[in-house]
Amino acid sequence: MRAVALDQFGGPEALKIQTLPIPETEAQEVLIRVEAAGVGAWDPYEREGRFVEIMGTKPTFPYVLGTDGAGTIATVGKDVNRFKEGDRVYAAELANPKGGFYAQYAAVKADNTSLIPGDLTIEQAAVLPTDGLTALTGLEKTLRLKSGESLMVIGASGGIGHLAIQLAKRLGAKVFAIASGDDGVELAKKLGADSAVDGHGDKVLEAAREFAPNGLDAALVTAGGEETDEALLAIRKGGRIAYPHGVMPEPTAPDGVEIKAYDGEFGKALIDRLNELIDAGPFEVHVDRTLRMEEVAQAHKALTEHHLGKIALRIE
Ligand SMILES: NC(=O)c1ccc[n+]([C@@H]2O[C@H](COP(=O)([O-])OP(=O)(O)OC[C@H]3O[C@@H](n4cnc5c(N)ncnc54)[C@H](OP(=O)(O)O)[C@@H]3O)[C@@H](O)[C@H]2O)c1
Repeated sequence: MRAVALDQFGGPEALKIQTLPIPETEAQEVLIRVEAAGVGAWDPYEREGRFVEIMGTKPTFPYVLGTDGAGTIATVGKDVNRFKEGDRVYAAELANPKGGFYAQYAAVKADNTSLIPGDLTIEQAAVLPTDGLTALTGLEKTLRLKSGESLMVIGASGGIGHLAIQLAKRLGAKVFAIASGDDGVELAKKLGADSAVDGHGDKVLEAAREFAPNGLDAALVTAGGEETDEALLAIRKGGRIAYPHGVMPEPTAPDGVEIKAYDGEFGKALIDRLNELIDAGPFEVHVDRTLRMEEVAQAHKALTEHHLGKIALRIE
């Protein structure tokens, strides 16, 4: 199979198209014929070898990146009865030792795989799972967001943020979105935010206090920095803040506000819940651009430049 693989960790130049064996499919796995892969904000860290450092695992090379992907089922493991050959699926697996989704085939746990919900395209489904599940874990498990509560989403036009706006609206929250740039504000409004401001330009704290004069109940933070910490002053005493591990600088909570770092969770129950919320009405997974496998270094560079939603890689 064709794959983008690393012979050693390093910069974007270490990403090379190679011919590799198709991974074996174990009993509880499915083999996916990958058509598109998500390019995650965290992929450059994995490319540089920081994941294996943190996880204390020994990497095997050639090393194939790609936590998220979508395509069709090619082979079903003998203990799997939920899928059949040809099903259109999406899946996620973090640092899969058998290789990630930057390849024509990926063998992943059936529990981390699902039929594609709604009318999402393959590219939209490919970029969805990790950020979608991270948004959902943050909202439902970490923040325990309730209907009628007010929620601030910081980084609202990014991968997690633009999905979090739509999921939070479906959970009945009132959403104050802090997005990046005029185009980010426009996207956040289009996706249902009750109010949206530019985190780099507008008077954010003033706008947040106007939105919720008694303070907001909760915040989901996907971008850190001084602007973030100032905006968080609008969270009420007794309120809650959640941010996924990896957000840097780590946000600071005002006095009397609970703050928790968390990791997005995977698995069948959570993916089913994500699909259920997506199926409840029109849902947009925003793909800023789709690049070819040959343009993978450009895709990694694009992560460091202003963009909306997600970046996808077409696998051919
Ligand atoms: N622990 C976990 O389970 C987990 C899972 C997924 C992701 N993560 C981490 O979570 C973080 C966010 O992930 P992501 O996929 O959502 O990344 P992302 O797509 O890069 O989103 C972050 C967004 O924040 C925006 N932003 C930056 N500063 C801002 C400000 N002051 N006001 C408003 N918006 C601002 C960025 O805009 P620009 O494009 O204009 O800079 C970008 O759109 C990353 O660090 C990622 O590694 C952790």
